[in-house]
Amino acid sequence: MDVHVVVLAAGKGTRMKSAHPKVLHRLAGLPLIEYVLATAAALHPRSTVVVIGHEAARVRAALTHHRGLAFVVQEPQLGTAHALLTTEPLLAQATGTLVLLSGDVPLLTAETLQTLVDRHTSSQAAATVVTAVVEDPYGYGRIVRVGEQIARIVEEKDATSAERTIREINSGIYAFSLEGLFDAVHSIAAENAQREHYLPDLVAIFRRRGQHVETVTVTNVAEIRGINSRAELAALNRKVREQKALELMAAGVTLDDPATAYFDRDVTVGADTIIHPNVSLEGRTTVGRGCEIHSGVRIVNSTIGDGVVVLNHCLITDSRVRDGASLGPFAHLRNAADIGDGAHIGNFVELKKTTFGAGSKAGHLAYLGDATIGEKVNIGAGTITCNYDGERKNQTTIEDGAFIGSDSQLVAPVTVGKGAYVGSGSTIRENVPPGSLAVSAGKQRTIPDWVKNRRKK
Ligand code: UD1
Ligand code: CA
Repeated sequence: MDVHVVVLAAGKGTRMKSAHPKVLHRLAGLPLIEYVLATAAALHPRSTVVVIGHEAARVRAALTHHRGLAFVVQEPQLGTAHALLTTEPLLAQATGTLVLLSGDVPLLTAETLQTLVDRHTSSQAAATVVTAVVEDPYGYGRIVRVGEQIARIVEEKDATSAERTIREINSGIYAFSLEGLFDAVHSIAAENAQREHYLPDLVAIFRRRGQHVETVTVTNVAEIRGINSRAELAALNRKVREQKALELMAAGVTLDDPATAYFDRDVTVGADTIIHPNVSLEGRTTVGRGCEIHSGVRIVNSTIGDGVVVLNHCLITDSRVRDGASLGPFAHLRNAADIGDGAHIGNFVELKKTTFGAGSKAGHLAYLGDATIGEKVNIGAGTITCNYDGERKNQTTIEDGAFIGSDSQLVAPVTVGKGAYVGSGSTIRENVPPGSLAVSAGKQRTIPDWVKNRRKK
């Protein structure tokens, strides 16, 4: 039977107090709605429709990489039932099951969703509601049962004090039979505390018509947690990170302090890597085996090989570090820096769009930008590639085995040939041929007794 998915993501998310759409707030590095779309995709639906409204253009723009999503704009936003109605033109001809998801409920699993569809289909219900029994039901719609049967759902703001003591809540996730669905949704009024068209009212409508309504109750409450505030976002963040840390430890990674391991969902780390406290691994970062990553390091969208040591407080973005290299403390790699096997980048060294060959060393205080640096090169302290002439960025090439003396400026475009030497304190404006020595600093002048003579005056 066909399955169609609708994701509701038009609401303002008032309680977030944010200029940004709620569903784009990030949970462990990924926008909330990405979790929902990934789970939905596991059902292999015939179609997936996202209802957008508040900041619609931004939500749509953030999702352009998803193929085959349809968007409908709900404007104004008159409630969850009204949101579903906006999809009617797209789904009027559709048959089978409609699965309705909330863009702000990120941790629902594909297994639960499959159970929902299976239960809905096998029970031939008009609607199936995912529920959970929670400690603190505040804010959620409550499941009112008569006997075993679900009779209706009542929102927090409309509930009597007796109904508020019910701890079984509506997750906002449902399966509906498409046949007759939109007719029923049209009949939902807005006679309630919020003057909104509530989708959960469908339960009472179907029951009145003598149709069957089923429930699926999940035991892992985190699965159906909706995010409505920053505090709820922080709580789920903690949960997701905790889970990630457990997975990595199970795979052989040592975490000195799992509570301060800030790893995004898609990060991978190899066995026998040791990670000290307060390390952030973000985006599409992979770290190899047998590495040691010290405190305060942040690595974003980068690939780290095996046996790499990263000392404290390095920032690495969009870069690559190959096997056996060592970095830091306080190194900065960005924008496609590529550090070769066994190379060493020391403290206060910045690399941008630079390949740094195997076994090369830049131990202290250097800026290497837009450069191609060969193997076994030595970069002295205070070396700077002057890559910007005020108009464009220019390339520096340093060939294998070259030695750049401390405090040198390499004014790009410029090449230092294989095995060549650059004397300390040089400003290199012309290419240095292989095997030669270039010095540009003037001859030293020494004035004897200068200090003594000055004192006398
Ligand atoms: C909703 C349910 C409540 C349930 C809870 C679970 C209703 C009336 N209540 O309450 O029973 O316990 O979810 O999390 O449905 N949205 C739109 N257009 C609108 C209004 C909302 O697209 O006009 C979207 C929101 O962006 C959000 C979702 O629908 O993704 C749920 O809306 P929200 O306002 O968060 O509903 P709750 O008050 O949490
Ligand atoms: Ca909500």
